[in-house]
Formats: sequence, structure tokens, C-alpha cells
Amino acid sequence: MKNIIFLGLCLLSGSLLAQTGNKGIPSSVKNVETKVDSVLNLMTLEEKVGQMIQYNGSWDLTGPASETGNKQKEERLKKGLVGSMLNVISIEATEKAQRLNMENSRIKIPLMFGYDVIHGYKTIFPVPLGETASWDLEAAQESARIAALESVAQGVNWTFSPMIDISRDARWGRIMEGSGEDTYLTSKIAVAKINGYQGDDLSDPNTIAATAKHFAGYGLAEGGRDYNAVNIGKHELHNVVLPPFKAAADAGVATFMNSFNTIDGIPATGSESLQREILKGKWDWQGFIVSDWASIAEMIPHGFARDKIHAAEIAVTAGSDMDMEGGAYEAGLEKLVKEGKIDEGLINEAVKRILRVKFKMGLFEDPYKYMNANLENEVPYDEHRNTARDIAKKSIVLLKNENHLLPIKSSVKKIAVIGPLADDKDTPIGNWRAQGETNSAVSVLEGLRNTDLASKITYAKGVTLGQGERSFLMPLEINKTDRSGISDAVAKAKDAELVIMVLGEDAFQSGEGRSQANIGLAGLQLELLKEVQKVNKNIVLVLMNGRPMEITWAAENIPAILEVWQLGTESGNAIADVLLGKYNPSGKLPVSFPRAVGQEPLYYNRMNTGRPANDLHVTYSHYTDITNGPLYPFGFGLSYTTFDYGDVNLSSEELSEGGSLTLSVPVTNSGDVKGKEVVQLYLHDLVASVARPIKELKGFEMVELAPGETKTIEFNISEEMLKFYSASEKWEAEPGEFELMVGGNSEELKTVKFKYSK
Ligand code: NOJ
Repeated sequence: MKNIIFLGLCLLSGSLLAQTGNKGIPSSVKNVETKVDSVLNLMTLEEKVGQMIQYNGSWDLTGPASETGNKQKEERLKKGLVGSMLNVISIEATEKAQRLNMENSRIKIPLMFGYDVIHGYKTIFPVPLGETASWDLEAAQESARIAALESVAQGVNWTFSPMIDISRDARWGRIMEGSGEDTYLTSKIAVAKINGYQGDDLSDPNTIAATAKHFAGYGLAEGGRDYNAVNIGKHELHNVVLPPFKAAADAGVATFMNSFNTIDGIPATGSESLQREILKGKWDWQGFIVSDWASIAEMIPHGFARDKIHAAEIAVTAGSDMDMEGGAYEAGLEKLVKEGKIDEGLINEAVKRILRVKFKMGLFEDPYKYMNANLENEVPYDEHRNTARDIAKKSIVLLKNENHLLPIKSSVKKIAVIGPLADDKDTPIGNWRAQGETNSAVSVLEGLRNTDLASKITYAKGVTLGQGERSFLMPLEINKTDRSGISDAVAKAKDAELVIMVLGEDAFQSGEGRSQANIGLAGLQLELLKEVQKVNKNIVLVLMNGRPMEITWAAENIPAILEVWQLGTESGNAIADVLLGKYNPSGKLPVSFPRAVGQEPLYYNRMNTGRPANDLHVTYSHYTDITNGPLYPFGFGLSYTTFDYGDVNLSSEELSEGGSLTLSVPVTNSGDVKGKEVVQLYLHDLVASVARPIKELKGFEMVELAPGETKTIEFNISEEMLKFYSASEKWEAEPGEFELMVGGNSEELKTVKFKYSK
């Protein structure tokens, strides 16, 4: 028997094929499915279950430590009882683990190495929410391609990205990790990211497998509290949450990750409806689902599983294929099959999915293909930095610019740079920084000192922000008491013509487990801003943060505000490019900024009430202390120039089944510098079988215009655009009246109407 298995694997595994002198897969083994089946047939139950287990290495702990010690993990690797590892990084480490597995195990199935490569590997790009503000799909794809290349140079061949959870709540710390509140924009970014990571061919050694996560609903946790319950109805699930995942599945994403939360009482990890019926069934997606970190065993505290064995039974039945560091599959699957509690067919199905991805990655041909020690020397890191600067400047959003305070005039003689984040080389790297080094970003101060302004700059920190050690799981201490630096900052501000204040959030203030009930400027920052404003009104607030913040006082009292997120390695240079007008800001918000945290969750594509805004009884449907609307709406962002929208033209007012219309709108640069505008298209279905949002983004187009130049932007309107998950639980377009709205943000729009009939 042993020999048969060995012979079978010799035919299938390129590492062993090397022994026959043949590098390729034998032509007798026709396609991936045949290969998958042949390998599966050779596996014992124990080995099959082993494929469904993922272990953490000992490098980065991105979740609670598990009970399985390193020795035990090593033993299982040697027996071929591990399917993949996470947080094992470097060529040496991945090769060591792969060799333990390949050289000792009977079955010799190569491991995959997963890692959270979220916004770059070594070269760090803007945090995903920031990068989405560029509305630049090529940029999103390119940063993913670069991240993939830098990852494989370290043996990492699988990223747990993109995170495509719709999030409408600035209190949720992980809002920084996704693309914000809009389903359409998130879907587009999802596809761009997947294409960037995976390229055209997963077996290309410069690409990595991507993961669509977290399936599903994780971003809509109640109160913005991480890991908490999600209570949404089926229409919100299908119309808001699922479309980016469908787009990812259609784009051929290799893996999905399920999520920690319950939805309507059912943990997503144990949800048969999400995983088996929708993803694997209706969508016919062929990849595999990895659990989130211990999310299978976490069904126990959820009160959904009695113990690990029960949790394993629920998860495998629901369609979770691989257990990330939870130990539930290890504890339960074999036992469950042997006791006849689950059918081995469930295990076979999961293992086939895992093997399929491994075959597609070409791992069977060469398990060491991602362990090219020479690649590191060939990675063009300098080029990557240039791209990082380019993407960073495109991600900046100009929120306010009274009296053209920006760009900084060359006549300005003295500039005071103030704030705890101004000389901070770490915060721009943000959370989920993979191998982005601590303190490796260009700070704002450095960026400005790299320009002609260098000799005009004075600097004061004012207050300190994050104190203590910064790390992924380390809570921060915010300075709330030490005012000793404020007087120096005020003196420098008084002495300057212009003040640039760099405030916001510390590097790890947003991210996993970083929910906040307050989203204003932490610690003494607001006090510092107010003190400085008393002596100098010419302030540019540079806001560095991972989530939308409550900045109402600043919006009312500070003339210029630049949202710079956490822009990554080249942060300071990119910010200087914008401050000096070398780059005219073109970013637009992917998420609404609230006037007060009490408005959260806040999003533009809401439903109308029965008593909409202009109704007499406004007090019934509105806050009585502030207006319902955001401080800065979704899609908003200014430029150093202005854009005028002409009359919107629709080729016809009637759309029939299978037909299409053309909407056109002339856009003119009415200012005196060149600039880029994101022209946005929104749709409103006036009457439907399910109440529809007052508007929903359906298209966008970036246009660059010279001063005085006009271009006509066209959008194709088809039935496809009208489809939604209807009362009949179908994805369909319903006949009736529709409004189309076009403009430069979700509030300032020009409207036309049409009728759709079948
Ligand atoms: C938990 C996070 O929710 C998930 O996004 C991440 O990929 C895993 N930990 C692994 O670090």
C-alpha cells in the first residue's frame, strides 16, 4: 500500500517528479480536477483532516495564543497533518516548515503560507480606507501587485486581503481596513485588489492567493463594537453586504474567510445558508473558506456549540473548510466521522477545495517555488516607494479650503508645524502593517523639510499622543494631562504666518479590537488646536487617522482641513506634494464624516422615513439638537480648482427590457489650475417591492481637466444597474420610475428621470 501511495504521489508532485527528470505534470493527468481526485483518493482520513487545519507560526500573534505548542505543531507538520500556516514569514522560515512537511510526511502535500498583507508588505501604502479615497482602481490594483511581489520575496504566498466588509460606523476600529460604506465602490476595489494580488495566473510565482473577508456582515456589528452581533434583515444582507463578495467570487478570488459575528443569531462561521447555499451553491464558487482566527471554537462562547467537537460538526456542515488556529477541527473531525456523526463526504469536499487552490498555485509542481532567496535582491523597492508616494497623494481628501489658504503661497515667510503627529514616523504606517518597519514612514515634518519651504519651518509638538509601546494588540495611553508643551506651540504659532497642525489618531488607534465610543481628537489635541487658533487663524489642519472623526469644532473654526488618513511609507512627501500644490487633491470620501458620534451609524444610501426631511413634522424623524446630515458626505472632496456640471442629458426617458440609455453630462474646470474630478452617478428606484435607498452609487469616472476645459462624461444605463434583491428574493429589475443623479459628491447632484418597462 505504501508503495502505491508513493508512486501515485510521484506522478502528481513535481518535487517528486524531479526524480523522474520530468518537471511538468504528466499529460496523463489531464486537469486540476483529475489531479485533485487522484490525490484525495490516496489520503487517509487523518491526512484529510490535517489539510483542514491551519496553524500560526510563532512570529506575529494576530489573535489569542492557542493551546497547541510549537513542538506539537512541528510533529504534525512532519506527519503531513497541517494544511497551511499563517504568520510564518521569511524564506528561511517558510522553507523550514515546508521541508518538515515535504521531507517527512507520507502524503507530501505542500503547505500554503498565509499572512495579513493588508496595505503593503514592506513598502506600505495608504490604509485601505484611505486608498479607496483615491477612487483609483488602477492604483488599488498596482499596490496589491507590489504587495504580492514583496510577499513572495519572503515566502508568503497567500494574503488575508481584501477586507470588503461594508462599514457604516466610525466607532468600529476596523473601518480603516475596508473600503467604507458603499457597496458599489467596495465591489470595484475588491476586484482591483484581487486582480493585483492574483494576476492572471495564480501559478505565476510573483502572485499570491487573495482572500475575500469577512464573510459576512462583520462590519455592521451593533454599536460599532468589534466581534459583536449583527442584526440585519435579508434585504440588507443581499443588497448591501453580499455584492462585494459576489464580485470577489466572480473575479476568481482563491479563498474566503468567514467572520466572528453572529447574523440574526447564527454565527457566520456556522452559517450553512451563507457558506454552503449562497457562496458554494448559488454562486458556484470553487475556492476554499478559511475560518477567522478560532472562529469555529468561538461558537462555544456564542452559545451555539457545546464544545469544540460540536463546533467542528457545525462548522464543517456549514461549509467552513479550514480551521484557523482554533483546534476545533483537530479535536473533532476524525472522531465525528468515525462515530458516524458526519459524512466523510463533507471532509472530502473541503479537502478537494483546498487541494484545488494548491494545484492552481502550482505548489504540487514545486513546493518551494515561492522560496526564491534571490528574489529579495531583485525587488525594485525604490520604484515601489515612488508608486507609494503617487498613490498616497491621490488618497488625500481636501475637506475645507477657505480663502484659498492652500496651496501654500511661496510668499509665506514663516510656517509653524505643530502637533504630536507632525514628526511621527510611525503613525502613517498604520495598523495591519505586515513587515512595514516601525518608524519607517516619511513624517510630515520631513516631507516639508524636503521642499523649498525647509528654511521657513519651525516645529513644536504641543502635546504627545500615544504613549507606551505601540503594537498590534497593545492598548494605547493617550496623553490627557501633560500641558507642558502647549505654550511653546502657541508661541511658535504666534510668530508664524501659517500654521500646519498635524493631529488625529495614533498608529494603532484604529484596527482590530479598536472600537471607540468617542471619535473626536483624543487627549489634549483639541485643546491644543483651540489654544493655537486663539493666536493665529491661518491654520491648515492635517488630519491623520484611520476612521472618520468627529471634527465639528475644527470644521467651524479652522479655514483649511486636509484628510490624509495613514498614508504609508511615503506619507510626508505625499502630504507636502499636496500642501505645496505640486499635486492638486483629487480624493473623495469613501465614508461619511459625522457631526457627532451619536449619529453613527451614518451613511448616505439610507432609506427615507415616512416623514422625509422637508416634512413639517421633522422633529419626529430627526435629532432635535443637530441636523441628521453628515458634516462631510460620502463622495465629498475639494480641489484647488472648481468643477461645473452642465445640464444632464439622457438619450431617452424610457428604458425597455434588454435596452440601454446613455446619460451624458458636460464637466468644466472653472478654476485656474489643472485638476481631476471623480464624476459620480447615483440611482434611486422610486417605488419597488422593497423600499429602496434614497440614492445608491452606480458608477463613477475620473476626469482630468485643464483650466477652462470641458469634457462630456457618459454613463451607460442598463437594466443590470437597476437590479436588486427584491421581495420575491430574486436579483431583478422592477418596472417603474427611476431617478439618476450626477455630481461631484453624494449631496450636490443634478437629477434626471426615466421609466423602465418590461
Ligand atoms: C483575525 C482577523 O479578524 C482576520 O482579519 C485576520 O486575517 C486573522 N486574525 C489572521 O491574522
